[in-house]
Amino acid sequence: MPLDLDAYCAANQPRFLAELVELLRIPSISADPAYAADVRRNAGHVAGAARAAGFSVVEIVETEGHPAVYAEAITDPALPTVLVYGHHDVQPVDPLDEWVSPPFEPQVRDGRLYARGAVDDKGQVFMHLKAVEAHMRTRGRLPVNLRLLVEGEEEIGSVHFEQLVETMGERLSADVAVISDTGIFARDVPSLTVGLRGLAGVEVEVRGPSLDLHSGVFGGAVQNPVDALARMLASLRDPVTGRVTVAGFYDDVVEPTEAERAAYRSLPFDESAFRKVAGGIGATVGEEGWSVLERRWVRPTLEINGIWGGYQGPGAKTIIPAHAGAKISCRLVPNQRPDVIGRLVAEALRAATPPGVTCEVEVRHGGNPVITPADHPAVRAASRAMGSVFGREPVIIREGGSIPPVEVFQRVLGIQSVLVGVGLPDDCIHAPNEKFDLDHYAMGIRILARLWDEVAAEMGDQRRVPSADK
Ligand code: BES
Ligand code: MN
Ligand code: MN
Repeated sequence: MPLDLDAYCAANQPRFLAELVELLRIPSISADPAYAADVRRNAGHVAGAARAAGFSVVEIVETEGHPAVYAEAITDPALPTVLVYGHHDVQPVDPLDEWVSPPFEPQVRDGRLYARGAVDDKGQVFMHLKAVEAHMRTRGRLPVNLRLLVEGEEEIGSVHFEQLVETMGERLSADVAVISDTGIFARDVPSLTVGLRGLAGVEVEVRGPSLDLHSGVFGGAVQNPVDALARMLASLRDPVTGRVTVAGFYDDVVEPTEAERAAYRSLPFDESAFRKVAGGIGATVGEEGWSVLERRWVRPTLEINGIWGGYQGPGAKTIIPAHAGAKISCRLVPNQRPDVIGRLVAEALRAATPPGVTCEVEVRHGGNPVITPADHPAVRAASRAMGSVFGREPVIIREGGSIPPVEVFQRVLGIQSVLVGVGLPDDCIHAPNEKFDLDHYAMGIRILARLWDEVAAEMGDQRRVPSADK
């Protein structure tokens, strides 16, 4: 039992919190160019924290967009090498007036730390830094070699990540990647994630008359762009079966095995708890023939993320608006590809465009879906580390969210990832009042500190040179 690590963590937890709070004050919103300087400052802050934790090499790595942070703590080339990935950028904060405390003025209420990025992903990156610190301060070294890569563009689709990985080449060589950017199944059900969905984005703009028209003078004879867009969007899904009607949408989908479906059925899924964290909805919906978990983890979706057009101000304004638009994203499952799905959705929208308006569709960046092996030695190591801290062995799950770098590591570097996150379903990621439970922050640090001992035990032999094995 690594009492030394636990004792160190327990004694230093208040400082671990105070330091995270400082990082959370920096508004590192990658999506909004107005915050570019803050994202950069944030990278500098992460780099400083990595140095303080005991990493020997720490660098800011430039990309064509926001900078990443790279750090190294190489103990002994004979030991297994782990690549830890995370992101230091955060989502936008609107609607701002729904935050109980301002998003970049972190506040603790009821044992929870509220701030944008608290759990996604600054808090979970900080767990890694503090776990390394615990090893360095108690034992002077890590039982594995560690490389840390914290990018600044995850929330905008890791747009320059593949290029970054290719440029960094050998410096990212590792036996396995560990990522803490996910959650657990439920508060009392720890879990390890072995699948993430991919993402394809599409933006559509519908244009009609070259100016807003009087809806009485012209109404009845002119195609209304908002009306046209509404019908075009509605045509993308069958209201009865819940299936996406875009031609070819399901062609490349690999269905889960019967064993997997049985495993998901045996999970203690609480539908009413789900409806509650989903903002108090009265009923769930989705594709016919699939459970709620399957709809979220193993089936592709098409969602409208935003829609605009026409008059939104007080009172009434009787017009036929000149244009309307929407942002759409599809979650993808193996073996769907974002460029293919983006093109299919664009074609479906064009085909559904009624006369009298034109439609312009732009296909946005995306990410590939990924499955990671559940039987990897590092998954066993993570299972033991997590099990010992939670007092219950983790279950194996998939998640519906996307972390494109996981697939990049697999395809470009040949490295598998273990997803060891400790977020909770009610953390409100990407929403107002994002929070991180402080006991989960503390447990996460202890899990990751233990993880390096477990990885050394599970994977230690792999690269040991024969002569070192007396
Ligand atoms: N950490 C999330 C992804 C996530 C959330 C995975 C919950 C599993 C459970 C990540 O920061 C994220 O939000 N990713 C984006 C990626 C997109 C912009 C390409 C997402 O999923 O929308
Ligand atoms: Mn994240
Ligand atoms: Mn996110």
